[in-house]
Amino acid sequence: MIGDFTFENPTKLIFGENSLAKLPQELAPYGERVLLVYGGGSIKKNGIYEAVMSKLSGKVVTEFGGVRSNPTAQTLRDAAKAVKECDADFVLAVGGGSVCDLAKATAAAKGCPEDPWEYFYEKNLEPEWEMLPVGCVLTMAATGSEMNSIAVMMNTETKVKKGHHFLGAQGYPRFSILNPRFTMSLPKYQMVSGIYDTFNHITEQYFAGEEPTASDYMMEGLMRAVIDNGLKAVDDPLDYQVRSDLMWSATWALNDLFKVGNKLDFRIHKIGQTIATFTDAAHGMSLSAVSLAYYRKMMPCGLHRFVRFAQHVWGIERNGMNDEQLAQAGLDAMEDWMRKLGVAMSISEIGVTEDMIDEVAEAVPLVSAGYRELTTDDIREILRESL
Ligand code: NZQ
Ligand code: ZN
Repeated sequence: MIGDFTFENPTKLIFGENSLAKLPQELAPYGERVLLVYGGGSIKKNGIYEAVMSKLSGKVVTEFGGVRSNPTAQTLRDAAKAVKECDADFVLAVGGGSVCDLAKATAAAKGCPEDPWEYFYEKNLEPEWEMLPVGCVLTMAATGSEMNSIAVMMNTETKVKKGHHFLGAQGYPRFSILNPRFTMSLPKYQMVSGIYDTFNHITEQYFAGEEPTASDYMMEGLMRAVIDNGLKAVDDPLDYQVRSDLMWSATWALNDLFKVGNKLDFRIHKIGQTIATFTDAAHGMSLSAVSLAYYRKMMPCGLHRFVRFAQHVWGIERNGMNDEQLAQAGLDAMEDWMRKLGVAMSISEIGVTEDMIDEVAEAVPLVSAGYRELTTDDIREILRESL
């Protein structure tokens, strides 16, 4: 490992077909007033809402439904108002990453004397008060929000989408209930968007290092699991084992395990998140649309790692190829997999037109990371190549 670190992830995971049965006992230690946060209605169609409500007897439940995908500063302000008004003791998220993120930020916002967007996202301040405890019933495998302390919000006026990383144990969900069956009602578009998001969380932690660490070996194994199960899920979305492996993989891809002690390069996320502020693209698709152009640009500077990616993740033999050819073959294999999965392969598919490129490129924050610095001109080029 490269750096010194402390690893502590306090989220309790309850996994499996019968996991929701444990909800009452998990909620028992907390107060009776529960703010139930959920999305645009999928849980009312697939029966998850009723299943959850049946486990909440004895609690006073206030609902905050209608949370949009890619929640905004305004969504957070509305939720902050709701959590204060009902004086909740606990915030229960039932949904995907958007709902889990909003629940965390809402739990922090209860004690916030200021506008929560400004406090957490513009000033990047930590709560000086105790956050409410949060629990998640996850319905989409993708973001890892169920086991991390990140809450991503966006401001469509200022074109900023960013995560706040809450510090300390209170920023993590106390528990997350992961029932792979709950993910089976996802439309294919969202399912593959989530699969690519999981994969990209791993690559953004993999394509930054030099000598392989134990974490790199673990990431290679997890990427292989996502590649294999991703295609199987496209063939048969109702295969329980496949969906449970994808759910488990998504959680571990972004729960601090690989982050600690390692170098990271989350700039595909910076580009994808910025695109979302313009077009409201599904998160995973905003990443897939720019990934190949991005990695082809980075490849010459991190050649050794791209060679390793080809060999250890895609199982490609050298067979007389030089390093550049081998590295290229790895990215070609990734492209082939992405096409089979059916993710967005260009930014035009997610609403970005040529005349928007300058504005999008200028809105992408520049951060130092990975194998080389990137300028706004480089980002403009990546976006053009992704059209
Ligand atoms: O709103 P509902 O009706 O629930 O529908 C959702 C939404 O339309 C639907 N859905 C979810 N579960 C379903 C379902 N439909 C049918 N059956 C189910 N079981 O899927 C759509 C997308 O849901 P959403 O929660 O937005 O997706 P996802 O889990 O990809 O979350 C995306 C958000 O998470 C942020 C993203 O930026 C984005 O705002 N991220 C959070 C991270 C974190 N906390 O660590 C890291 C990620 O990189 C990401 O940035
Ligand atoms: Zn992501």
